[in-house]
Amino acid sequence: MPREWDAEGTVLITGGTGALGALTARHLVARGSRDLLLLSRGGPAAPGAEELLSELRAAGAHAEVVACDITDAEALAEAVRGRRITSVFHVAGVLDDGVATTLTPDRVRPVLAAKATAARLLHELLPDAREFVLYSSVSAALGTPGQGNYAAANAYLDALARHRHTRGLPALSLGWGPWDVGAGMTGALTEADRERAARSGLPLTTAGTGTALLDAAMAGADPAVLPGAVDVAGFTGREEVPHLLRGLVRGPRRAAASPAGEVSFAGRLRALPAGERALTVLERVRAEAAAVLGFPTADAVEKDRPFKELGFDSLTAVELRNRLGAVTGVRLPATLVFDHPTPEALAERLGAELVPPEPGAADALTAGLDALEASPDALSPGERSRLRVRLSALLARWADDQAGQEPDDTEDRDADLAAATEEDIFALIDSELESP
Ligand SMILES: NC(=O)c1ccc[n+]([C@@H]2O[C@H](COP(=O)([O-])OP(=O)(O)OC[C@H]3O[C@@H](n4cnc5c(N)ncnc54)[C@H](OP(=O)(O)O)[C@@H]3O)[C@@H](O)[C@H]2O)c1
Repeated sequence: MPREWDAEGTVLITGGTGALGALTARHLVARGSRDLLLLSRGGPAAPGAEELLSELRAAGAHAEVVACDITDAEALAEAVRGRRITSVFHVAGVLDDGVATTLTPDRVRPVLAAKATAARLLHELLPDAREFVLYSSVSAALGTPGQGNYAAANAYLDALARHRHTRGLPALSLGWGPWDVGAGMTGALTEADRERAARSGLPLTTAGTGTALLDAAMAGADPAVLPGAVDVAGFTGREEVPHLLRGLVRGPRRAAASPAGEVSFAGRLRALPAGERALTVLERVRAEAAAVLGFPTADAVEKDRPFKELGFDSLTAVELRNRLGAVTGVRLPATLVFDHPTPEALAERLGAELVPPEPGAADALTAGLDALEASPDALSPGERSRLRVRLSALLARWADDQAGQEPDDTEDRDADLAAATEEDIFALIDSELESP
């Protein structure tokens, strides 16, 4: 049944001094709320807290900001003691993004605590609240790269809302997509960030749209919603399409499964002269990096500038990994961009994987000589003499070639060879082959 908006009693907003907490406070006051309690660890010392309070008071509300760590059961109980809290807006949260392999318990615990532990405490402490609104994230429903801890924390909020709903308690979990409000978890966005967001499939939520969506969700009956738009085109062709969208979105066309006649990137690379391959891979890496960062062309991605300096973080690093994986058909590790920190280093790694260097004749010969050195008796006298003839003939040919060439003093190896006389070389081979 649709809920009626209740402007009476005290509205508790956790994370009330953060970007969305402050925006929510202003919006609720504009809608008629007259008594607000805003909690955050920073409390009145949090940036912007004073201005926010004056604004809310000027709008006719009684508002208080109290410093409280809401993951601490006693501190939270103390903060709400003696107040008639009728509405709960649990907005607090922290981020600690990283690829799954780096998410140690120390990086998961605080993210879970600020959302899940605090939500459970509020649920237990305030059984009579008539509004119980949880600010969750689309990460729980769709999964966002690098946010395993955060997605789990938000999934708890969604589950708690459903749990309360089935027990007849008020509950609303809002799985917000990224906001564009100049502060908070998405911070101040650049034009490149906005372009990237537009392509990501999750368009940004502005203050106006967000508060309208909040009102709509609160007027609705669903306990867990995803307020905001999803642009399925942004998910098309991705390496990993969120489960929820699989019925709507086409997955990646893997290079290995290319239809007949369509040449894979690795195939095109192999067809190129060896000297052009490295540059082709590098250009592709730069182009994909530019696309991830929202740069109009690859020119902005210098080949030897570290990805970190170019503006990559763990999320964009995973996005680049996914794009390169889709292009090449190679399964690449999530740590790709950290293991190979510049476009040049990454291109080298990819090139080696796509067109592994064939062992050259010199490598094979060196391996044979190594084996002979390790066990000089391995050859029979007949084999030795046959080999001696062939090696002598080869060395004589090299010596002739060498005589007709300018010595290349850029390479020590060649300089050494040029300095050695024919007798030196023959003597070396003889001693190697004839020694017992
Ligand atoms: N902004 C977005 O694009 C976006 C998108 C999806 C979902 N959301 C959700 O919306 C909520 C607000 O996000 P935001 O952008 O406004 O972030 P924000 O500006 O960083 O605000 C988070 C607030 O939570 C408070 N907080 C964190 N841990 C706390 C703790 N243990 N005890 C008390 N307060 C604590 C912070 O204050 P102190 O550090 O002073 O404690 C801060 O006031 C979050 O739950 C987030 O997951 C945001």
